Order: sequence, then C-alpha cells, then structure tokens
Amino acid sequence: MGKIEKLKRYWRRRDDAREYFKWCLSYTKPYVPQLFLIMVFDLLATLMSVGMAVIGKEMIDRASIGNLSDFWKIIVVYIAVILGSQFLGIISGLFSTIVYEKFGFGIRKNVYRKILDTCWIDVSKYHTGDLMTRLTSDVGTVSDGIATTIPTIIRLIVELLVTFFTLAYYDIRLALFALMVAPIALLSSVILGKRLKVLTVKVQESESRYRSFMQESLANILIEKSFCLEDYSEDRLTKLRDERIYWVFKRTRTNMFASAAMGLSFQLGYIGAFTWGAICIARNTITYGTMTVFLQLVNRIQSPIISLAQLVPRLISMLASAGRIIEIQNLPKEEYTGARIEPEKIGVKVDTISFGYTDELVFEDASIDFKPGEFTAIVGKSGIGKTTLVRLIMAFTNKMKGNIEFYNAAGETMSASPDARNFIAYVPQGNTLFSGSIKANILMGKKDATDEEIIEALKSAAAYDFVKDFPDGIDTVIGEKGIGISEGQAQRIAIARALVRKAPFLILDEATSSLDESTELSVLEGIRKWNPSPTCLLITHRRSVLQYCDREIQIVDKKMSSIAG
Ligand SMILES: Nc1ncnc2c1ncn2[C@@H]1O[C@H](COP(=O)(O)OP(=O)(O)OP(=O)(O)O)[C@@H](O)[C@H]1O
Ligand SMILES: [Mg+2]
Repeated sequence: MGKIEKLKRYWRRRDDAREYFKWCLSYTKPYVPQLFLIMVFDLLATLMSVGMAVIGKEMIDRASIGNLSDFWKIIVVYIAVILGSQFLGIISGLFSTIVYEKFGFGIRKNVYRKILDTCWIDVSKYHTGDLMTRLTSDVGTVSDGIATTIPTIIRLIVELLVTFFTLAYYDIRLALFALMVAPIALLSSVILGKRLKVLTVKVQESESRYRSFMQESLANILIEKSFCLEDYSEDRLTKLRDERIYWVFKRTRTNMFASAAMGLSFQLGYIGAFTWGAICIARNTITYGTMTVFLQLVNRIQSPIISLAQLVPRLISMLASAGRIIEIQNLPKEEYTGARIEPEKIGVKVDTISFGYTDELVFEDASIDFKPGEFTAIVGKSGIGKTTLVRLIMAFTNKMKGNIEFYNAAGETMSASPDARNFIAYVPQGNTLFSGSIKANILMGKKDATDEEIIEALKSAAAYDFVKDFPDGIDTVIGEKGIGISEGQAQRIAIARALVRKAPFLILDEATSSLDESTELSVLEGIRKWNPSPTCLLITHRRSVLQYCDREIQIVDKKMSSIAG
C-alpha cells in the first residue's frame, strides 16, 4: 500500500515538474530570438576557445621539431581569437542581463495582474508578505533560470560535444577517459535532485515568513512602540532568520555533497587520462602537441559536465519557484459576465442566500430587498455579518448559494458580479487611503474627475472645510494609510472618493464611525442631498444615523429582517 502511494506521489511530482517546465517555456516564447542570439555568442566563444587549444598544439608541435617559421602569424591569430572571445563574452553578458530584466518584469506584471483579477476571497488567504516574496524572489529565480540557466545548459552541452569530438579526433581513448566524470555527475544530481526540490521550497517558505513578518512589523511600528515590543520583535526576526539559515544551510550542504562527489570523480578522470597520456608519450604513440591539446581539452570536457551537474540545483530551484507562482496564477479568476443595465435607480434583491467563510454559516437562506433610492440602515452585533453582506453584494466571493440580483426602474436585471461594481461606490471599514495627494486618492473614484467635481465631492463629505485650510489644498500629500491627517479626516476623504463616482448605489460600512455627531450628521445630510440621490446601504452602530434612513434592517440568526420604525 505504502509503496503504491509513494509511486503515485513520485509520478505526480514528475507531472508537476513537466507542467512547471512547460509554464516556464510558455513565458520564454517572446524571448526566443534574444535567447538564441545569446546562445550563438556563447557557442562562438566556445568554438574560439577550442580553437585556441588547437592553435597551441600546432605551435608546440612545430617548436618541438625546431620549425619556427610563420610563428608570429600564429601568435597574431591566437591574440585575435582571445580578443574575439572576450568581446563575445561581454556582448552575451549584456544581452542576458536585458533578457533577465525584461523577462522578470513580464512574469511579474502578469502575476501581479492575475492577483488583481483573482477572486478576493481566495487571494485574501495569502499574507501580502508571502505574495510579495512570490512576486519578487520567486519570479527572480524563474527569470534567472530562463535568461541564464537554460542558455548555459544548452551551451555546455554543445561545448561538451564539440570538445569531445575534437579530442576523439586526436585520440578516442583519451576522450573516453575524460568522460569518466559523467556517470557520477548524473547519478548524484538525480539522487540529490528530489531532496533539493523539497529544500528549495522550504527555503522559499521561510523567506516568505521572514518577509511577511518584517512587512507587517514595519507597517505597525506604532503598536510595537506602544506595547514596548522592540526587543520581542527583534527576537522574532532573529528566530525567523535562524529558521531561514537552517534551510539554506541544509540546501547548501546537499549542493556541496553533489559538488564534492563530482570534484572527486573529476580528479580521478584527470589522473587516469594524464597517466594514459604519459604512457602514450613514452611509447611515442602521441606527440607533445597532442598531449597539451589533451590537457587543455580534458578540462573543457569535464568542466561543462560538472557545471551541468551544478546547474541542476538551479533548475530545480527554478521549477520549485515556478510552482509557487503557478499556485497563485491558478487561483480562480473573477467571472465578468459582461451584463449591463442602465445605471439609474438601482435596487438589489437578495434572495435566499447562504454563505460561510468556513463550514460555519454567516447567512442561511437570508433574503431582503433594497429598493431603489432608499436609504437603509443595517444594524446588528459586531461579527454578525454586516460586512459579509456587502462582500456578497459586491461579488467578492464565489462561494455563495442563492441569488443576488440588481434591478433598475426600467425593470432590467443583472446578477451580482464584478460588472456591477461599475455602478457601486463603496466606502469600506477602516482606513483605506493610499499614500499620495488627496486629489490622487479621490481620482481613484473617478479617473477623469475635474477639480470642480473633486471639490464638490469633498464638500458633500464635509471634508472641504479642512482640506481648503491645508497650504496645498487638494494637492496635500498624505502618507501611507493616511498618515498626516486624522482618522475622521481620512474617513471623509474616503467618502468623497466614493461620492465623486456619482454612482447610483452607495455602500458605507461604518464610514462615519470616527466622526463626532455633528460632523457625521453633516456628512449624511450632504449625501442625502447628493444629486442624483443614490440607493444607500449604511452599516452603523449609531442610533443617530437612523434619522437619515428610510428603513432599518437587522441581521440576527443568519437572517435579515426589517425593523418597523
Ligand atoms: N475573511 C474571513 N475569513 C473567515 N471568517 C471571516 C472572514 N471575515 C469575517 N469572518 C467571520 O464572519 C463573521 C461575520 O463577519 P463580518 O465582518 O461580516 O461582521 P460584521 O457584522 O461586519 O462585524 P463588525 O461590526 O465588527 O464589523 C464573523 O464571525 C467573522 O469572524
Ligand atoms: Mg464589519
């Protein structure tokens, strides 16, 4: 039983590797011409260095019989070949750097876009630090694999063949001696390969944890200070680093074993071939020139074999990283249906929905109708499902049972889907501003809004009073998570960002929770007077808000119901 399981797993891993490799190749297609050029340069460089060995043989053989005629010509050719190979080295180095950069950006952009297009509920399970590691470190490993490792492997194989046949041309037995290293190199890379893959994934996972911690810690410096956590945080960082070092060490040790085994067989092959060469010279079956060409070329056969074996770990790292990127890419994408309805006087009918993040349901067969133009207050205990209702209406999850349907005054309908977000303006709970100017933040609500529209939105959100007092007005730059302005000011800017959309459907999730009562009321008054008047869902814990609402609904026992009032 156990054996069959093991075998199955082995085959699955092989399939994975094939899939990852195919994926890497699919990204390589646009760069084939450049990669091909790099390989051509590299091959020319290889041919030149083999040529140098052959020229050296010619010189020694001539010298050993006292023939020095045309010696300078040979030296000129020799120097030209050396210069040529140096030049080619530089050009191919430059090319591969450019391919590496472009390729890396290509994948990164693609994966970044995939993350944006992925259903929120699935992507939110990953720590942003983990996603960042995949986008930077893993993508870097893959680009390095494509831009340098794969061309190098092809070059090494060609180098091996060219050198082998050149050497075989002079003496086949010498050539075979030099190949002695190959089986050992092959064996050790196959045996250690599997282990290396596991270790690489471990290294990348520990890297993710390390980065996630740092990112979160830096974003919450204030908390660390308030709770005097500086030493504690440093300790945690050290522990995470130790964990990383542990895996890096294990991986390096495995690599080292492979290298040592190959180094040893390299030496043995060299000694064997050297002895054979010496015997041949003693018997006068080869010339000194052949011996020197051999001594140079034996190195040239063995070093590509060893380099090939050493590239195996890099190839394995590349596949392991590709797997981590593919995992993100394979998350389900959001489904745009392409449905459109006239975005005027929008209502939404929630019909017998059931949903839970886990097996524990938040809603069970819950229904409600939010009528066009109505202001509805949604109340309920903390953790009861108010924000979840918004997420379902906004189609941020794809695991809901039941139906949510938008409709307009003309009787057109469309199901809740990402398309519907075009006519929804949403102010989420918490601070959601970006670093940059106030204007830039508001433009996110409507990319082509004029300054007049921005100011109008700020006024309705009771924000213009303080914005206009800033020396730079709407061009005032705020920091990460709204640093530089107060929480309540940030909330009002977030409301202005939603209002500027002039969307017919507005959702405010505790959007005025940080405001004093009179400011809150003036914000709500501003929204009520907003023209055209939107349908509005107001999630709130405050009674004072209710006077601005036409209706109040509550969430209890996984259901929604109107409260008569
Ligand atoms: N991403 C998530 N994964 C798993 N469970 C979640 C997730 N988000 C919320 N929950 C759970 O779903 C339930 C409803 O959460 P929700 O955020 O909708 O509450 P809420 O009514 O908005 O509360 P509050 O008034 O505190 O904002 C809670 O029990 C919460 O623990
Ligand atoms: Mg909430």
